[in-house]
Amino acid sequence: MKHTSSTRAVPETSGVPRHIAIIMDGNGRWATKRFMPRVAGHAKGVETVRTVVEACALRGVEYLTLFAFSSENWRRPAEEVSVLMRLFMTALDREVSKMHVNGIRLKVVGDLSRFDLKLQQMIADAERKTADNKRLTVTVCANYGGRWDIMQAVGKMVAAYPGMANFTEEQLAPYLSMSYAPEPDLFIRTGGEKRISNYLLWQLAYTELFFTETYWPDFDAKALDEAILSYGSRERRFGRTSEQLLEPQKAS
Ligand code: IPE
Ligand code: IPE
Ligand code: MG
Repeated sequence: MKHTSSTRAVPETSGVPRHIAIIMDGNGRWATKRFMPRVAGHAKGVETVRTVVEACALRGVEYLTLFAFSSENWRRPAEEVSVLMRLFMTALDREVSKMHVNGIRLKVVGDLSRFDLKLQQMIADAERKTADNKRLTVTVCANYGGRWDIMQAVGKMVAAYPGMANFTEEQLAPYLSMSYAPEPDLFIRTGGEKRISNYLLWQLAYTELFFTETYWPDFDAKALDEAILSYGSRERRFGRTSEQLLEPQKAS
């Protein structure tokens, strides 16, 4: 399916966002507060992923995108990185069949070439297995960076139009790693930080932002509903005035 840029058209506003993108932050602090090692927070965070995936499916969200590991997270202690990789593999191993039964399509985006071959293989298998599912698309951003995404897309676009010097946003869009999805309607960051941390830089241009102090392991369906409720009260103008939104929509 092709999606035009959401900065042009005002999407139908129902209370439920079509696409929610989350920065799952605060695992380490959740654990430290309990005198537990940081990795215990990551393990608990995996449980929250399961809860939020289910809640999104039940609420009719079509796309859920989760930031699991940023291109900058390699800077963490080697031991923490390796636990995160193992947790990712175990989660794939345990959850993919269940996701498949529940009509969930799994996608993983990011520079996967830096991962173990075994993990790359598991990702490819999971994507293949769930490729035709239509209920909810869950995208895991792994070794993902917004700048990386834009640069890899620019590289592919330039190669596709030899000799061309001027490009449009529409020409770039198909090469971005989430070209299969509309742009996020709602962005949620847990853990209290108010920054984007090199997440979906291009795609978040007009996304509604929601920040919560709740650490990711404590986030649940009720917290998700709070974010959705807040989203429902926003007026998405995309550069227009409030009055214009009441008029029948004209092109561009
Ligand atoms: C988010 O939690 C998970 C990853 C980045 C993998 P953190 O590990 O960043 O937790 P805090 O921010 O240190 O509490
Ligand atoms: C962002 O969280 C990345 C993920 C949640 C995977 P970080 O905890 O790495 O972000 P910073 O370093 O605080 O900006
Ligand atoms: Mg953090």
